[in-house]
Amino acid sequence: MRSLTLAPSLLAADFARLGEEVAECEEAGASWFHFDVMDGHYVPNLSIGIPVLKSLRAVTRSFLDVHLMIDNPEIFLEPFADAGADLITIHQEVSTHLHRDLHEIRRLGKKAGVAINPATSASTISEVLPFVDLVLIMTVNPGFGGQAFIHAATRKATRVRAMADDLGLADLHIEVDGGVGPETAPVAARAGADVLVAGSSVFRGPGSIGQNYQAIWRALEAGA
Ligand code: DX5
Ligand code: ZN
Repeated sequence: MRSLTLAPSLLAADFARLGEEVAECEEAGASWFHFDVMDGHYVPNLSIGIPVLKSLRAVTRSFLDVHLMIDNPEIFLEPFADAGADLITIHQEVSTHLHRDLHEIRRLGKKAGVAINPATSASTISEVLPFVDLVLIMTVNPGFGGQAFIHAATRKATRVRAMADDLGLADLHIEVDGGVGPETAPVAARAGADVLVAGSSVFRGPGSIGQNYQAIWRALEAGA
């Protein structure tokens, strides 16, 4: 069976305690973090960016998965690579030259991801699958944490997994992002996702951060 990754989304963390909260997740077993960048144009919200990523890189060896929800992502690939991203994901909907931008991410020595919104068909990324390490399937509309999981979007995880299998891309990661918690994480994993991003359910769940992380992990192990 494919191994699963549960990636806390730092958007829901307490930014005044970012290093401590990352350490709490790591003690609970996390080694992959999702870092949401918003520009107030592509999505109607602002979040964190290059200086925060740089500070974070200095305090953790975990895998840093940077999700760019910004217009003109090509302008910022190198600064995010230099700031310590391990993987950079850009949206299919906003990249004018997707093939070029994905190659640029790899040229910078980073893993490359492509994201699609709930209304975007999986077929729109078929031509770039050989050039990415990860496909991010949004299970909410991007811009905010704490939204409800869009179940219909999980069909695309199955679709992308089948497309990847046809191309012999056994190592392709399929990530789902938005509304992931103990009930929905197993649904997404069964559909074909192997990286589950969880913000509110980890940082704002009923227990401590560690307890919340482990509750989702147990649900995943039981139901995937
Ligand atoms: C939404 C972001 C998500 C967000 C998920 O635009 O891309 O990564 O942090 O938050 P939750 O898990 O609270 O839905
Ligand atoms: Zn995200």
